[in-house]
Amino acid sequence: MGEKIIGIDLGTTNSVVSVVVGGEPVVIQNQEGNRITPSVVSWTKEKEILVGEPAKRRAILDPQNTVYESKRFIGRKYEEVKDIANKVSYKVVPDEKGDAAFDIPNAGKLVRPEEVGAHILRKLKEAAEQYLGEEVKKAVITVPAYFNERQRQATKMAGKLAGLEVVRVLNEPTAAALAYGLDKKKEAKILVYDFGGGTFDVSILEGGDGVIEVKATAGDAFLGGANIDERIMEWLIEEFKKETGIDLRQDRTALQRLKEAAEQAKKELSFKMETEISLPFITIDPETKQPLHLQKKLTRARLEQMIEDIVDRTIEIVKRALADAKLKPEDIDDIVLVGGSTRIPLVQKKIKEFFGKEPHKGVNPDEVVAVGAAIQGSILSGEKKDVLLIDVTPLSLGIETMGGAMTVLIPRNTPIPVRKCETFTTVRDYQTEVEIKVYQGESPIAKENKFLGSFILSGIPPAPRGVPQIEVCFDIDADGILHVTAKDKATGKSQSITIQPSSGLTEEEVQKMLEEYEKHKEEYERKKKLVELKNQLDQLVYPIEKLLREAADKFTPEEQKELQQLVAESRKVIDEATEPEEVEKQIQKVQQIAGKYSEKLYKLAQEQAKTPEQKPQEKKDNEDKKDNKGDDAIDAKPVD
Ligand SMILES: Nc1ncnc2c1ncn2[C@@H]1O[C@H](COP(=O)(O)OP(=O)(O)OP(=O)(O)O)[C@@H](O)[C@H]1O
Ligand SMILES: [Mg+2]
Repeated sequence: MGEKIIGIDLGTTNSVVSVVVGGEPVVIQNQEGNRITPSVVSWTKEKEILVGEPAKRRAILDPQNTVYESKRFIGRKYEEVKDIANKVSYKVVPDEKGDAAFDIPNAGKLVRPEEVGAHILRKLKEAAEQYLGEEVKKAVITVPAYFNERQRQATKMAGKLAGLEVVRVLNEPTAAALAYGLDKKKEAKILVYDFGGGTFDVSILEGGDGVIEVKATAGDAFLGGANIDERIMEWLIEEFKKETGIDLRQDRTALQRLKEAAEQAKKELSFKMETEISLPFITIDPETKQPLHLQKKLTRARLEQMIEDIVDRTIEIVKRALADAKLKPEDIDDIVLVGGSTRIPLVQKKIKEFFGKEPHKGVNPDEVVAVGAAIQGSILSGEKKDVLLIDVTPLSLGIETMGGAMTVLIPRNTPIPVRKCETFTTVRDYQTEVEIKVYQGESPIAKENKFLGSFILSGIPPAPRGVPQIEVCFDIDADGILHVTAKDKATGKSQSITIQPSSGLTEEEVQKMLEEYEKHKEEYERKKKLVELKNQLDQLVYPIEKLLREAADKFTPEEQKELQQLVAESRKVIDEATEPEEVEKQIQKVQQIAGKYSEKLYKLAQEQAKTPEQKPQEKKDNEDKKDNKGDDAIDAKPVD
């Protein structure tokens, strides 16, 4: 048996550590005796670093030196998170690379989100070591399904900084399915509904006989219990303003207290119909210099009104996941609730309404993800070997090909790890270089998708267009990191790229793209058709163009004129047409005119091909074109 691998749910709000002992997962208590550790780190004036409960307690006293919800910033550019940066009580700034970092006065330096994560992880690692009585070196850490490569890398880095080798970055809903025991079922489909503190994730998983497969995932990394707290806070602030004319938004300490009180009230309303929010001495009246108190009653009904749209948004995302998996609500055998926010009665009610059945109860929603991570850890350590885990890609991945088309190599919702290869060819004669441009997204037009990176494969032996065979392979490893390789089959020369962590899509971008795609499906279809038709037209015109260039003397001046005009016209259509019908018309025209010359064109092409001393590869060109019908051309830039 290998060494212990612990499982950690590094949550936005709370973190949990678990380990499998004697075949059973155990949730480990932290140093304060709690099974849940707030994901909060605080720096004191004495440069002491507090983590978890003691840090959370300092949040009110020292908001600028206390970092919470740092997961929102991990692996992200400052520009991407500017808006949320204004909502936290500590200072978020760009570091020298433009990444989001925290300016913590007591730390005396910029603190990166990875470091905050590392402090939390180290605390949990130590708790596990105390419990196990041995050193712990390896961990499985969970992340939201929608984390991009960059965020996954940063999470790994956090582990490394904490002295942990992160043997697997596991999607949270997948972990939940493992804890639910999906692998032990006989053919079941479950939907994991994870409504936590900062993120919302849905996954549809199919399991049975030792296998778990993710069918679809969807989510919103900016939808969670914190949004509900904010609603209550806003309401309190407005009510207080109405009564006193004072805007508490200006007062950081007051805000922090409001936040805590709002969360407390929310939690109470999960099992009570009404609660009292009481914040004595919330501020001082600037005129009378008398302390002011905030006292408000909040009912469950009022809270439900405030947050109904938030809960409805989660159901919309559930619908999308179902549509992706091509399933109906009644196809789902069980709904597994994950995350503290699923304790809200309105959430359970809406789920029940939508599915027509009660969600599954029995897995503790706070601990289920960590337990799943621990089970995955035990699988990897060799302790448990009967489960195979499969995750999926959230968006399609592909390269730009002729006419700016997006040619998908790995469609969205493909189980990973995965390797897919396809053969492409060149679009220009004697092209010795191709540029492989990698994109992520659902639009048929590459440029409308997220550009992930590019590289150039050079040294291709000069040959007419359509001859070189370039094999492009996409490889996504178990952690969701993408490697792209291009190989010239003739020479065996290859080039590759590991998609730079900084280039991945953010969760909102993934979100937006999927929404765009749903909204503009028809338009996308039209665009796709347009590109395809333009490429078809290009295929028709290209040989004519070539003959005009290389064997102009074989045509009469009139013929030359007519064909030249036809080529020019077609080029214009290729460049400018916006409607498929326009291109279709031109294709018909070319076919008709070329038809008149077909015999001549054919004969000339044959002759051209037979001039071996000049163009030895031309013949192969024509033959190969027939064989490689399915090949796409890479729209590469020729070298200057
Ligand atoms: N009884 C309750 N009623 C309503 N909300 C609750 C209750 N208990 C906890 N919560 C909320 O659940 C959220 C925390 O959930 P959880 O610990 O699952 O999140 P997390 O895993 O840290 O976050 P994420 O999954 O977004 O990374 C907080 O917003 C908290 O206020
Ligand atoms: Mg969670």
